[in-house]
Parts: sequence; structure tokens; C-alpha cells
Amino acid sequence: MNRLLELFASRPDQYLSGEEISRTLGVSRSAVWKQINRLREEGYVFDAVPRVGYKLAGKPDKLQASSILAKLKTNKLGRPLFLFDQLDSTQNEAQRRLSEGAEEGSLILAEEQTAGKGRLGRSWHSPPGKGLWMSLILKPDIPFASAPHLTLLTAVALCRCIRRLTKIEALIKWPNDLLVAGKKISGILLETRLEEERLVSVAAGIGICVNLEQADFPAELQDKATSLMLAGGEPVDREVLLVAFLEEMEHWYELYLREGFAPIRTVWEALSTSLQRRVAVGGVEGMAVGLNEQGALLVRLDDGRTVPIFSSNIAE
Ligand code: BTN
Repeated sequence: MNRLLELFASRPDQYLSGEEISRTLGVSRSAVWKQINRLREEGYVFDAVPRVGYKLAGKPDKLQASSILAKLKTNKLGRPLFLFDQLDSTQNEAQRRLSEGAEEGSLILAEEQTAGKGRLGRSWHSPPGKGLWMSLILKPDIPFASAPHLTLLTAVALCRCIRRLTKIEALIKWPNDLLVAGKKISGILLETRLEEERLVSVAAGIGICVNLEQADFPAELQDKATSLMLAGGEPVDREVLLVAFLEEMEHWYELYLREGFAPIRTVWEALSTSLQRRVAVGGVEGMAVGLNEQGALLVRLDDGRTVPIFSSNIAE
């Protein structure tokens, strides 16, 4: 971190005189003044009081790899971290990195995506500075047929993390949308590579609408999407949320590798808004009653038969 910022961070809410700063940092008064102006251009806010000094009054809301890594306590997930101001899609970057042998845990983050990808060929709106748009690389040694487990696991980790951090009562809509009061707050897109029926790698793409204002959503999403800030009434620190998510994700991922899908299934069912309701899904209609061992949604038809439905969309 910049030494001037470190100095302000060590003396929160205090005015520091130009003379004191120049003495502590061993630089001239005019160098201090230039640095402060440069930081102002980056979005930092300084209160300047004549004959008293400067106080750091605001920081730009920009993700910083060094400060994320300083907070992160995971064993693997989130390292290495690749942070970009802008990408077409973090999923595309993840695929590029995978072709170059990226290791498990690698995280690709972008402040903005210009061609964010959603499920079923849709696009994903990803404006700058207000969301978390990321792709996490995983390399579990599991059969290809178990890939849906990872989608459900990611939804559980994200839902639990949001509830813990914000007290917002997020729920999971099958298979992996996160809803708050019926509006979508987050989406998950898994892209897999396989070899001889085994998963070689997964790029888990996660989009979280963190601090978007209502006007930030395009017209067609106005009544369907919301953000954590809109739902909770206050902005959420994106770095704190990201770190909490990676820690929660690692917890569930390690549990899954040790104990299999059963514990994830139980928690997913408890957090789901899709169960014990009539659904129209995968060409059938009936009551959604739970998940099977593969992660398929079990739907009880009106004739009493129960059928498993693999990932598709539940009609509204
Ligand atoms: C959906 O609900 O349709 C899934 C949306 C997934 C969006 C995320 S944002 C980060 C990652 N990069 C992408 O291009 N898409 C995923």
C-alpha cells in the first residue's frame, strides 16, 4: 500500500499536518501535496483544513488485490488472484487461464464485464464498481455426472454467506439463483471440462449484485432483479463479502470432498424457495419435493410418480 495511505490508516479520523506527514515519510511538503492530489484523482477524499492539516475522509470503492489477499484466510480458494478493471467475461479469462494450466483455487475478478455470460445463452449485466463478477477455478476429482453438485454447493455457500454477513434472508431457487423477496440478486454459471467421464476442471462463474442502484439495472430487469444494497438498505463492502464468500465456499467444498453430497443437499433443501411448491420444469408439472443424490430436482407428478429433473429453468 502507498506509504501516505498507510500513515492515514494508522491514524484514523485524525488531521495530519503537511509538516508532520513530510517529516514522517521523509519527503518534501510539495511531494506530499502532489501525492494527495494524485490520490484525489483516484477517488480518495481528503478534508483539508488550513493550518491544521489533512484527514482521509473517503476511499474509492475499488477492489484491490493486495487488500483482498491480506484479509483472506483460505487454504486454497482465491489464490492466485487475477483482478482486472475490465474483461469481456471472467469465464472467458478462466478458460484462457485453464488452457495455460491454472491451478485449483485461482480466482479471476473483474470490476466490469462487457460481455458477461448468463445461463442458457443469456447475457449478464455487469456494470463497473458495484458488483462482484468472478470465476473460481476448481479441479475436484469427481465423475462428470456429479457436476450438478458443485452448482448446488456454490449456491449454498453464497446463500449462507449473504445471510451471515447482511442478515438478508436470501433463498435459493433451483438450481442456483439467489433470490431476495422474489427478485434475483445473484447467478451462478458452471462451465466444465471433462476427460474420460471425469471432471478435469470447473470454472464456477458467480455474479453478485452488491451495490447496484435500481437505475443501474436495464429496463427488462427492473422488476426481476435487485441488489444487496437495495434489499438491506445499506451498501455492502465488496471486499468483505468476497472474502467471506471464499471462506464459506472452501468450507463447503472441503466438506463435499470429504463426505460427499449428503450434507450439501440437506442445507440446500433448507434454504430453497423451490420446494413444496407446484413447478413447471423440464417439460413436466408437479410438486417439487427435494433433490436426489445426483442433485436433480424431484418432482411429484399428479399421477403419483416422482421424476428427477436435471438443470433447466423453473417457469414463473
Ligand atoms: C445466471 O444466472 O444466468 C448465471 C449468471 C452468471 C454470471 C457470472 S458473472 C461472473 C461470471 N462471468 C460471466 O460471464 N458470467 C459469470
